[in-house]
Amino acid sequence: MEPSHIAVIEALFGSDLYRQSLRLREAVLRAPLGLTITEEELADDAMRQHFCAISYGLVIGTVSLKPLDEATLQLKQMAVAEDRRREGVGAQLLAHAEGWAHEAGFLLMVLNARMGG
Ligand SMILES: CC(C)(COP(=O)(O)OP(=O)(O)OC[C@H]1O[C@@H](n2cnc3c(N)ncnc32)[C@H](O)[C@@H]1OP(=O)(O)O)[C@@H](O)C(=O)NCCC(=O)NCCS
Repeated sequence: MEPSHIAVIEALFGSDLYRQSLRLREAVLRAPLGLTITEEELADDAMRQHFCAISYGLVIGTVSLKPLDEATLQLKQMAVAEDRRREGVGAQLLAHAEGWAHEAGFLLMVLNARMGG
């Protein structure tokens, strides 16, 4: 069941929600590996669709979709704040991304994943 206090909305590239999402991505996906977000990745972000999960005004989850061709999207940079995992936020982000992809006419979604976590 979807928690009612969590909403998934678009985080327009360059917006405040996008910047909050970027900070979350960096903390969850890059900092533990001793990495930061590169200039190349930021440039690539302009080509992607970004969504964030919000709870009480704070971004607690994020995901991006990158078009690879007219039918295919790559799901990237999915992250949920460590203290908000296993609440269904990830599932809600994924459902929203799939809904958007379907509406936009994409037919296939691909992704890379990490073991563990
Ligand atoms: C992966 C991640 C986005 C999942 O987000 P989440 O909000 O915790 O996921 P949900 O609560 O919606 O879980 C949905 C289902 O996914 C599965 N799941 C979630 N985390 C899991 C884990 N660590 N191991 C195995 N299964 C997991 C479970 O089946 C879960 O349902 P259940 O707990 O009711 O059985 C989150 O754990 C995260 O940000 N991890 C670190 C970053 C990361 O690994 N991102 C992917 C990079 S490739």
